[in-house]
Amino acid sequence: LKSRRKKVKSARATALQGGGSKRIEAQHKKGKLTARERIHCLLDLDSFREYGQFMEHNCTDFGMQKEKYYGDSVVTGQGLIHGRTVFVFSQDFTVFGGSLSAVHAKKIVKIMKAAMRVGAPVIGLNDSGGARIQEGVDSLAGYADIFQANVLASGVVPQISLIMGPCAGGAVYSPALTDFTFMVRDTSYLFITGPDVVKTVTNEEVTQEQLGGAKTHTVTSGVAYGAFDNDVDALLNIRDLFAYLPQSNREKPPSIKADDPSDRVVKSLNHVIPLESTKAYNMKDVILALIDEEIFFEIMPDYAKNIVVGFARMNGRSVGIVANNPKFSAGCLDINSSVKGARFVRFCDAFNIPLITLVDVPGFLPGTAQEYGGIIRHGAKLLYAFAEATVPKITVITRKAYGGAYDVMASKHLRGDINYAWPSAEIAVMGAKGAVSILFRNKGEDAAKREEEYTELFSNPFPAAVRGFVDDIIEPSSTRRRICEDFKMLENKKLDNPWKKHGNIPL
Ligand code: COA
Repeated sequence: LKSRRKKVKSARATALQGGGSKRIEAQHKKGKLTARERIHCLLDLDSFREYGQFMEHNCTDFGMQKEKYYGDSVVTGQGLIHGRTVFVFSQDFTVFGGSLSAVHAKKIVKIMKAAMRVGAPVIGLNDSGGARIQEGVDSLAGYADIFQANVLASGVVPQISLIMGPCAGGAVYSPALTDFTFMVRDTSYLFITGPDVVKTVTNEEVTQEQLGGAKTHTVTSGVAYGAFDNDVDALLNIRDLFAYLPQSNREKPPSIKADDPSDRVVKSLNHVIPLESTKAYNMKDVILALIDEEIFFEIMPDYAKNIVVGFARMNGRSVGIVANNPKFSAGCLDINSSVKGARFVRFCDAFNIPLITLVDVPGFLPGTAQEYGGIIRHGAKLLYAFAEATVPKITVITRKAYGGAYDVMASKHLRGDINYAWPSAEIAVMGAKGAVSILFRNKGEDAAKREEEYTELFSNPFPAAVRGFVDDIIEPSSTRRRICEDFKMLENKKLDNPWKKHGNIPL
């Protein structure tokens, strides 16, 4: 038994070396941490428990039986973040470039199934050369098994992907199926086919970075939800995000003791809306002033900036915030902002995170680019997401709520629990100028006079308030207090949608 113990000890020491010191050095030279260093940085101190440390690949082609590594090319297990259980896999680039063997896939699927059984999130740290070329279709089968597990876990436990190296070909679809995909700047990339294949097929010359680097995916494609400067920064940020999320769809998100008084009067909000209705302001100022301690975890900060989404706390409770931002494209809804908002709302609803919606929207963006791109189909996603959501929903109309966009933005009609308007609110079919130009076209009327009349009648919160479409017109400075009180009142809200296999959200 003594010699067996010795063997275990020595095998463990070998496993901890991954692909060996030379390859670890090469990994460090690229500015990247190793798979195990990343786990160490992500989890609470000494909390990691590894599973499958002695699993090996079983490929015998291309002389592979002679080259085996304990644990193969992925480190898997569970640990704690802020004292709460999380399952983790971390691909080890030092072993066959982190490529995915059948055993590698089996290890990942195993922890995903365990996570679903106990109700705990899964975090995947991706750094892989893709399918293990020597294993052929066994590797492809492994990917499909992971995809299937991702889909079954979707909406059951939160799934977070962090791309920390290459992720190409079929490998991209596991992160794409998870709730959040983040990247590390300069060292990670995501694409379906690399620059060489692109050149052959489309004759386009493009670098790896241009094709699938962090900037491309956080600004242009919207595939990634955020990017960080280095491995440590990224891992610490994931710890921050984790703090807002529940363990599973069966739990409420964690609440902490707040240091910021829930009845704090926010005087600055009384002056945030410009006197001129067409002037821009930054909705992020409103968000920061409202939430606990100005701490906001923004999702997709560089993509579709006309809508802002992210996590914050109100009186210590985790909340999701969705807000039009008039600073960009006047805060209108377009294809990208609708999809961004819809996906965020659906995540919050799936995981019992209450929603605050701040509305200043002049409507949907007009134009052929939007119509040809399917704004009707994509705009419907946001409408669908708000309408199906059963979590507590509080909406504040700060200024414009025009046309169909008024309906979409968590209006009373979409089962908004509490809907407020600020005195500056303008709730109408459209702005005064547009309305008068249509109503009195070619009628030789005094346009300015008619606009004044329209503003008096419609561009204010009263028509909605007298109909009960907004529950109250409140002073901006009292908004924080009102929202905190309302969330307390809504804590035990119960609302169910009719039974169905699943809805058919427009895609
Ligand atoms: N299957 C098996 N081994 C792989 C692999 C794969 N898909 N990808 C990389 N490796 C191995 C390499 O053979 C190398 O082994 P070694 O350490 O014994 O020399 C090691 O991983 C590191 O790869 P290397 O090419 O030296 O690293 P790099 O940083 O220069 O390049 C990649 C990384 C991912 C760009 C490059 O390895 C690559 O193009 N891999 C193939 C990608 C692919 O087409 N995958 C299949 C389709 S999904």
